[in-house]
Amino acid sequence: MAATLITNIKQLVNVREQWRVLRGKELAELPCINNAYLLIEDDTIVSYGTMEQLSSINRSLPADVIDATGKLVLPAWCDSHTHLVFAASRENEFIDKLKGLSYAEIAARGGGILNSARKLNDTSEDELFNLAWKRLEELTRLGTGAIEIKSGYGLTVAGELKMLRVIKRLRERSKVTIKATFLGAHTYPVEFKDDHQAYIDQIIQEMLPVIAREQLADYIDVFCETGFFSPAETETICQAGMRVGLKPKIHANQLNLSGGVQTGVRLGAISVDHLETMDEAAIRSLAGSQTIGTLLPTAAFFLRMPFQPARALIDAGCAIALASDFNPGSSPSGNMNLVVNMSCIQMKMLPEEAVNAATLNGAWAMECADSLGSISIGKKANLIITRPVPSLAYIPYSFGSNLIEQVLIKGERVTIHH
Ligand code: NIG
Ligand code: FE
Repeated sequence: MAATLITNIKQLVNVREQWRVLRGKELAELPCINNAYLLIEDDTIVSYGTMEQLSSINRSLPADVIDATGKLVLPAWCDSHTHLVFAASRENEFIDKLKGLSYAEIAARGGGILNSARKLNDTSEDELFNLAWKRLEELTRLGTGAIEIKSGYGLTVAGELKMLRVIKRLRERSKVTIKATFLGAHTYPVEFKDDHQAYIDQIIQEMLPVIAREQLADYIDVFCETGFFSPAETETICQAGMRVGLKPKIHANQLNLSGGVQTGVRLGAISVDHLETMDEAAIRSLAGSQTIGTLLPTAAFFLRMPFQPARALIDAGCAIALASDFNPGSSPSGNMNLVVNMSCIQMKMLPEEAVNAATLNGAWAMECADSLGSISIGKKANLIITRPVPSLAYIPYSFGSNLIEQVLIKGERVTIHH
């Protein structure tokens, strides 16, 4: 059995022996232990406490000791919304945007998601896997230990299945916990522009049965948005997914008050994600539900949209998670450290709220909070060890610096090049 002991931890962050999804004021409570130790056996957290308690433990100490003097230890980030599998970057559209085109205008010209779909259908499964693997490795070095990955750049039966099979291979190969989401309803392919029902039929009759048979997805997602999928279409597609065991996690209220939040709540969605464009009714609906609101500040940042109203959501008692939305169109970064920075700097979340939202609540939004998202005995040892820092608040405060010194995924050290 491999054991690792981390000693002299300046602050062990998000330590809990009981956990549930955090909502409203609970988000600001971040239990920590100062001057702590943490003991890992194989891939599991088996013990922690203060350094004084360690000296009273009557056991032989393992050979592998990490001295964390001056450093913080946090649960690794749980990124519950990404589009990690894609064929190519889209910086040409980025330039178009700098010159004045909007996201919606680029999409209407056949750019955006359709551009990514054309490239994805021309790229082999192996090539897609290699590209995604490299991105995943980079994210682990940035502290991500669990991730949700969506399809949605196929938009054909073959393309969607190819993406989901890539995600399955990533899951089999990586130590990172990976959840797969079927997002066939990301946009309408050109040939179905005037016959939405025919594409919905294809999703329901041709894609979903194979996905169910091969167990290729955990969740079903729909881009519920003006010009994309209406609330009624979203409901039809999600219900078909639910019949084969997929739970909804949907794109809602990004560009317009599309009714996406209320639709997700009605469906009992695990999460409704984006939420740039919210009104009182949408906030009330979310606050009164079990559905998690997942905020994607780097997408708002990159598209120069108003940031998600985190304070209003927290004040209303919502459960909030933070995720990266990593994708080539609206968030070409999967760096959760930046997401945490931005949630504090731009959305006025407190550092404690941001850490909870990016760890424990992110784990809830992927239904893996029983094994990840906090420092708890029996949970997996997915950990971030920081460089020496003055305090927890220094993490969101000092944006742009990489403060991560070491990452452990399931107890195993990730190689980080400094
Ligand atoms: O979450 N909004 C829809 N989907 C992605 C963007 C997709 C793209 O532009 O490629 C998002 O922002
Ligand atoms: Fe997204």
